[in-house]
Amino acid sequence: MVHDRKSALALVEALSRELYINGRWRESSTGARYSVHNPADGSAITEVADASVADAQDALAAAHAAQRDWGATTSRYRAELLRRVFDRIIERTEDFAALISLEMGKPLAEARGEVAYGAEFLRWFSEQAAHLTGSYAPAPNGGYRIVTAKQPVGPSLLITPWNFPLAMATRKIGAALAAGCTCLVKPAPQTPLTLALLMQICHELDVPAGVVNYLPTLDAAAQSRALMDDARLRKVSFTGSTGVGSILLRQAADRVLRTSMELGGNGPFIVFDDAELDAAVDGAMLAKMRNAGESCVAANRFLVHEAIAEEFTERLVRRFEELVVGDAFDPASAVGPLIDAKQLDKVTELVDDAVARGARIRVGGKALGGNGYFYRPTVLTEVPGTARIAHEEIFGPVAAVTTFSTEEQALERANATEFGLAGYVYTRDLSRALRFAERLETGMVGVNRGLVSDPGGPFGGVKASGLGREGGASGIEEYLETKYLAVQL
Ligand code: SIN
Repeated sequence: MVHDRKSALALVEALSRELYINGRWRESSTGARYSVHNPADGSAITEVADASVADAQDALAAAHAAQRDWGATTSRYRAELLRRVFDRIIERTEDFAALISLEMGKPLAEARGEVAYGAEFLRWFSEQAAHLTGSYAPAPNGGYRIVTAKQPVGPSLLITPWNFPLAMATRKIGAALAAGCTCLVKPAPQTPLTLALLMQICHELDVPAGVVNYLPTLDAAAQSRALMDDARLRKVSFTGSTGVGSILLRQAADRVLRTSMELGGNGPFIVFDDAELDAAVDGAMLAKMRNAGESCVAANRFLVHEAIAEEFTERLVRRFEELVVGDAFDPASAVGPLIDAKQLDKVTELVDDAVARGARIRVGGKALGGNGYFYRPTVLTEVPGTARIAHEEIFGPVAAVTTFSTEEQALERANATEFGLAGYVYTRDLSRALRFAERLETGMVGVNRGLVSDPGGPFGGVKASGLGREGGASGIEEYLETKYLAVQL
């Protein structure tokens, strides 16, 4: 059924809002709970259990105890189980979409898109699980055989963000389970409900006790510290800010834990003067406005050739003007609220700073007002290089347009950032597209395309944007060790 806000709230009431540890729902050991809010109006949706450090340690004990049996299951078994979870998520698309919309704020249509995207990671990794391989080769001196096999890394801590509450979790859980790792999932405090439904489905489909554990908490730092200090944990995978990622990396170094880090971005979106303008504007809308700009792969800096900059900007402004900002459950809404007051303040500050330094507002430029955390879709031009927005990740519906005159200049400006997650380039000249893409210091490049995210593609960054890849053929490798056997014949 397609939900409205009332039925979405009823769905929440029917959901377990406890911790999920060792195959059981249970309260926090301290009895603590915290409130989850709807960003469209700041109202409290419900309360969920707040996991203590002791709860996290119980979950790790369960994950550790389950590891041997789970790692020994056949990959066919794991593949079929993941496939059943995929099917069940698809069956419950409307329920997942409603929970995502309620706690995160994105419009229902966009939330359905996230459900399809998020579920697809489980299908992708179910297919990967069934294709784990090893190798057999003569040693170079011919005296023995080199045999390699893949083995699961072991219990993994998966820390997920609020911007894609389902998809960023399935991207990690799917890979971990497919590889034979048990896991502990820590959702962002703002968006625990979507994953509570996923845990319920895992329970219904008999994912063995201890294989997946769920630990919402307000004290993420204490939780991750305790878990990462414990020798039973073998891996941490994190999606979030570069600041938090580097703290986790330092902590992980103490015990030489395997890490995967999907961190911040500052995506350049380059439009050359020979670009197909309609396609470039469509791509810009997608790269900028997907998820209201709250995505690490969002276009952050538009670099447009000076010969077409005005035409491109006018078209972009017209498209921004058409966007309806509103509540996720209103079918007219195309752009939802930002996640919370802190994020709204940050976007407001970035725009105000740019304007104070000489940027021109072509549309938008302020918050919508009211109780929700809505910001008007905004296009800025004449953004000076000194503006904070030229260097910081925006995570909001704001496009900052600047111009360039030569390819070298575009490249230099595009690469003038510590980040390197995704970039986008629009040109009809294939040689230039490839030349430019090769020199762009990012892990992913959209060539005449405003969306790179795909479970079949290796998602990840270079420079301060992270380590490792999620999805694609390499995603499962993040949760596997290569065991080498030297076999004397
Ligand atoms: C992110 O914002 O972290 C990733 C979004 C995506 O997978 O497209």
